[in-house]
Amino acid sequence: MSHQTVIVLDFGGQYNQLIARRVRECGVYCEVKPYTTPLTDLRAMNPIGFIFTGGPNSVYAPSSPQADPEIFRLGVPILGICYGCQLLAQNLGGKVTAAAENSAREYGKTETFFDTACKLFQGLPAQGITWMSHGDYMEKVPDGFQLCAHSAACPNVAIADEKRGFYGVQYHPEVNHTEHGTDMIRNFLYNVCGAAGDWTMGDYKETAIRQIREKVGGGRVLLALSGGVDSSVAAALVAEAVGRQLTCVFVDHGLMRLNEGDEVEAAFQKWDIQFVRVNAEERFLSKLAGVSEPERKRKIIGEEFIRIFEAEAKKIGQVDYLVQGTIYPDVIESGAGDAAVIKSHHNVGGLPDYIDFKEIIEPLRLLFKDEVRQLGRELDLPEYLVMRQPFPGPGLAIRVIGEVTKEKLDILRQADFIFRDEIACANLEETMNQYFAVLTNMRSVGVMGDGRTYDYTLALRSVTTSDFMTADWTRIPYEVLDRVSVRIVNEVPHINRIVYDITSKPPATIEWE
Ligand code: XMP
Repeated sequence: MSHQTVIVLDFGGQYNQLIARRVRECGVYCEVKPYTTPLTDLRAMNPIGFIFTGGPNSVYAPSSPQADPEIFRLGVPILGICYGCQLLAQNLGGKVTAAAENSAREYGKTETFFDTACKLFQGLPAQGITWMSHGDYMEKVPDGFQLCAHSAACPNVAIADEKRGFYGVQYHPEVNHTEHGTDMIRNFLYNVCGAAGDWTMGDYKETAIRQIREKVGGGRVLLALSGGVDSSVAAALVAEAVGRQLTCVFVDHGLMRLNEGDEVEAAFQKWDIQFVRVNAEERFLSKLAGVSEPERKRKIIGEEFIRIFEAEAKKIGQVDYLVQGTIYPDVIESGAGDAAVIKSHHNVGGLPDYIDFKEIIEPLRLLFKDEVRQLGRELDLPEYLVMRQPFPGPGLAIRVIGEVTKEKLDILRQADFIFRDEIACANLEETMNQYFAVLTNMRSVGVMGDGRTYDYTLALRSVTTSDFMTADWTRIPYEVLDRVSVRIVNEVPHINRIVYDITSKPPATIEWE
């Protein structure tokens, strides 16, 4: 696949993936690389431009992340954002210092004035809001640079050396709070780097199909279909490429939401592939009987899944390729920092050890989630699959608190369906990223008709988040919560009380187990 490429050089900022997504939204392919990537590797990618990201450090600190100074001599345009801007300035003869309290130090939304003669701001309003977050300040701008944006507190919000194609902005154009931020990035890509806009999902689909065909030849391909967006789109793409050479194994563990298994199966009927649905509900439930500890549940489900998948693979005989739905955020190696493991997420990542095959194919490895969805649409997958919210591998087993039984799963499935149905009726789906019901292990006394009830408490959970690492609870309108509550207690036996979870993550997690 040869697309023009922009490299986002990662100095440890929190919005780096967002920068990459903005570039791709503009129709230009880009990759995020750690700032430590050797220059020879960067040069080999033949980039049409670099974007230096923000970062938590001060450029003048002794051990601050630095770029190879040769990068400034490649003749390739550079846009520096925040830390990246200061790095550019310092390397090219400017001076960066800590801004004095209450002077050029800026945080939050800031009224900014732009020079629209500068290529970055051409065609955009001369005045607007930018999102600032910097405590350092360019005391001296390097020779050859012009000032092309300012705010009340800061004379050099943006700098440019148009001859060399070097630009720096102190603000964050990639966040939504900045007005016309994406337009500015587009100007950099098209006016400065000479982008042709050759990154579209239609093209990607055609090229990926061709490449999969070339690679696979007459070989056999195996894919574990979970029903999630990534594995579904990967399956559809490979199905389009190699048809009956593909076997999709869909292990229905009986822990899916209402009708989900049938929906997944129906979506793949239009392709002539080998589709194996293993109905393994009883097997999973018998293994889970008597188990209430969340991590034990995860381990049991993960192991059972692998065993079933392995048995199916053996039936097929020799498998040449295994497809995995890895997507780009899993691949990006961050410039700085690492994370602690709070829950052992069950993914199909463990499979390769168990199955004999030649190679793994990861056809979504370069794509962000929104691009995966777009590709799914290009492949005519139904909208309910393409827009499906994240669903954990262990399914409803970690949303039934305590021991998992068929009775509890059925109660939860009905309640969860009503919750999702009312959210859809109220057109609120886009205001939340994940929403579901949890069947607690608590019973309480209620009154229904003239009788006493002693039934389960159901919790509703909805979060708004961009990365699922942190999340806020969604402010669902009271009248919608009311409708959900009334419907569930009336329509679902054994639930007599509904609570709404109003904790953010942290300190809570999104799932209850
Ligand atoms: P938590 O509960 O850790 O969830 O805040 C963050 C995101 O991960 C999903 N999740 C899982 N996904 N296997 C998965 O494949 C798991 O065991 C698992 N546990 C949580 C969760 O739904 C949310 O999107």
